Amino acid sequence: LVNSNVSVVIIGAGPAGLTLALQLNKAGIDCIVLEKHTRQYIETRTRAGVIEQNSLDVFEKLGVADRMKREGLRHNGIYLSFEGVRHHIDFGKYLNDKAITIYGQQEVIKDLVHACLDRNVALEFEASVTGILDIDGATLKVFFERDGVSQAMNCNFVAGCDGFHGVSRSAAPISTCHVYEKEYPFNWLGILADVPPSSPELIYAFHKNGFALHSMRSPSISRFYLQVADNEDLSNWSDQRIWEELALRLQAENFQLKIGFIKDKSLTPVRSFMIDHMQFGNLFLAGDAAHIVPPTGGKGLNLAVADAVTLYQGLFDYFHKGIKSTLLSYSSRRLASVWRVQEFSDFMTNLFHLSSPIDSFEHRLQKARFTYITTSEAASKSIAENYVGI
Ligand code: APR
Ligand code: PHB
Repeated sequence: LVNSNVSVVIIGAGPAGLTLALQLNKAGIDCIVLEKHTRQYIETRTRAGVIEQNSLDVFEKLGVADRMKREGLRHNGIYLSFEGVRHHIDFGKYLNDKAITIYGQQEVIKDLVHACLDRNVALEFEASVTGILDIDGATLKVFFERDGVSQAMNCNFVAGCDGFHGVSRSAAPISTCHVYEKEYPFNWLGILADVPPSSPELIYAFHKNGFALHSMRSPSISRFYLQVADNEDLSNWSDQRIWEELALRLQAENFQLKIGFIKDKSLTPVRSFMIDHMQFGNLFLAGDAAHIVPPTGGKGLNLAVADAVTLYQGLFDYFHKGIKSTLLSYSSRRLASVWRVQEFSDFMTNLFHLSSPIDSFEHRLQKARFTYITTSEAASKSIAENYVGI
């Protein structure tokens, strides 16, 4: 067992952990990032790809946004579609120069990992955290395993940035908290295809067969999602069936779906998860470790980055000014914003997914909501404001 000391141990090299590490490093606060997977694994795993203006600003301040700004696709709007009727939400019209950047999460990870290594941030791959001891006391310790060897680190604070299935949440006294969960009765089937986008901007579509989303990664790579049953088996979805279903669900006047080689197919669960605390003594949860939003608003990565910024502010005040109150208010400052995003993500999910029969009361409500959005500037503006990020 090797013992050493560091101010902050960060568990997990996702957007939350890496953003926090780069901020602490810039402020001269020592930290170590422990990541259980290999660098190759985290840099190639296909995830979401919507970067809000706020997140881009954070990355820019950290000096890691050059490639994102060069290669990312800047979008000034999105399309909403309901049973073949398209409505454009123009961000620029309502929010001046605010926009979103389409750039895969694994590309973000590559840029952040590169910056960490370049700046000598301690970043350990294949270091799997197994436990956290004494979150309330003076002998806070993180246990991890590397190359089959058990090691421990002493630290002042632990940032649990290890995603929904990580270990840090289980070190917290969750039984004393209020946990809020919502399971949606469907999954997303996501594909990545070698084909130019068929639309200049994202399309969120409701169809009587279920939801479809057209996204993209570059001028030659497209990303699509289809609502499927929650017990769905990928083997039921041949490439041909996927393209047929996408063409059907995204159908609109003057729209032609381009098809190409599917190079990645996966299922994403659709669920919400919240706890009423994000800090437990000297353990702080950030990103997916603390909350999950349904993917319909493209918000997961952005919440992770926003958590990291607020947590960093607390740690900065503690280490550089000797003030602990900022850190102590981390949870309350984040929870209000996360709930706002939960509400928007739930709204988008309910608006576009099929969960009741066609012509049921619920379906007519969805239709009425969509009609309101297409006819009301206020409703369109509200969507623009939430989508770009409050
Ligand atoms: N020890 C060390 N690392 C761990 C452990 C552990 N025991 N358990 C999990 N990890 C690592 C995972 O391998 C992963 O790389 O923690 C990291 C968590 O990263 P993310 O899941 O990307 O979580 P987060 O940084 O909160 O970002 C949330 O990711 O899931 C998407 O849609 C979500 O965009 C959102 C974003
Ligand atoms: C994606 O591009 O992967 C994406 C876009 C928007 C979403 C979810 C995922 O709401």
